[in-house]
Amino acid sequence: MAKIILTGDRPTGRLHIGHYVGSLRRRVQLQNTGDFDEIYIMIADAQALTDNMENPEKVRENIVEVALDYLSAGLDPARSSLFIQSQIPELTELSFYYMNLVTVARLQRNPTVKSEIQMRNFENSIPVGFFTYPISQAADITAFKATTVPVGEDQEPMIEQTREIVRKFNYVYGETLVEPEILLPDNEASMRLPGTDGQAKMSKSLGNCIYLSDDAATVKKKVMSMFTDPGHLQISDPGKVEGNTVFTYLDAFSTKAHFEEYLPEYQDLEELKAHYRRGGLGDVKVKKFLNNVLQETLEPIRQRRAQYEKDIPYVYEVLKKGSETAENKAAQTLSEVRRAMRIDYFDDEELIRRQQQAFNERKAREVEGRRRGRGGRK
Ligand code: TRP
Repeated sequence: MAKIILTGDRPTGRLHIGHYVGSLRRRVQLQNTGDFDEIYIMIADAQALTDNMENPEKVRENIVEVALDYLSAGLDPARSSLFIQSQIPELTELSFYYMNLVTVARLQRNPTVKSEIQMRNFENSIPVGFFTYPISQAADITAFKATTVPVGEDQEPMIEQTREIVRKFNYVYGETLVEPEILLPDNEASMRLPGTDGQAKMSKSLGNCIYLSDDAATVKKKVMSMFTDPGHLQISDPGKVEGNTVFTYLDAFSTKAHFEEYLPEYQDLEELKAHYRRGGLGDVKVKKFLNNVLQETLEPIRQRRAQYEKDIPYVYEVLKKGSETAENKAAQTLSEVRRAMRIDYFDDEELIRRQQQAFNERKAREVEGRRRGRGGRK
């Protein structure tokens, strides 16, 4: 079976380093292994509109930002189709059919949707489109017959819901769709990178993000004012590593090579953590190291971004081409879905012939019946 990736992001802002370690870094690695037959990376504008209905300009402006982040992180249009969700009408049609396979109660149990409803104060006025976005996400994934969906942990309920829809569809209509596997980041810190203020999540509204597109000075400023261990007042005090954002970021970003280059007096992160726990290691030193690590990671991304920013028409060309490729694939799947669901009327010559024959036979029986009837009364 072909190995196919589909994943994507809502275009509601520039991407930050939480997106990067949560999924983007992985996509680029997977792309570069060459192990996948097809890779689709989607800018989920239609999904973004489900909770930004009154904000179409925000979504519109952020398409290019996300596309720039993709390209500068290393996604290569020659190997990955980058496309815009709303340009693939097949996805909407699939969603409509999948709605028959999902109950309202099942949607209400989706933990990610539940917490989003709370966060947005939707409780008593949930837009239907927002409520059903997990179904539309199942359409996104299955339209491409994706086998692998690299995403952050918050997307797990969506993939589970997709798998249920696939199983139900295949059971009712016959084997048609492919059940996808989720691919989560391989370390805990990358799974949920906290904000620079130590809050559970990086989010634009909390102002605690480091963006892929931040310049070097901004990154440094954000790192130097990061949340650490509030109990670690003097350098000599023993410090806590758990819940210490600087160390969480190091868990997500630092490698042994970074130690060799910037902090050779330590073998690795374990040794650095041990020293911090013992006491005698100041926050500033650790922050400076983290700054070096982040700059090394982000500098090539920034440089590529600066290049792509000079040629915005090219970025749109990439998205347009990618959308064409994506639509071809989705149209193929949709036609298989229509056939399986018995709504492919015009493509089914056998159906038309068989029904004609049935009507002919019925007519013949009626004629025969009337003839006999007259005969009987004689
Ligand atoms: N829900 C994802 C997000 O919040 C975006 C998305 C839409 C997605 N459709 C998808 C991700 C399909 C993976 C697969 O960023």
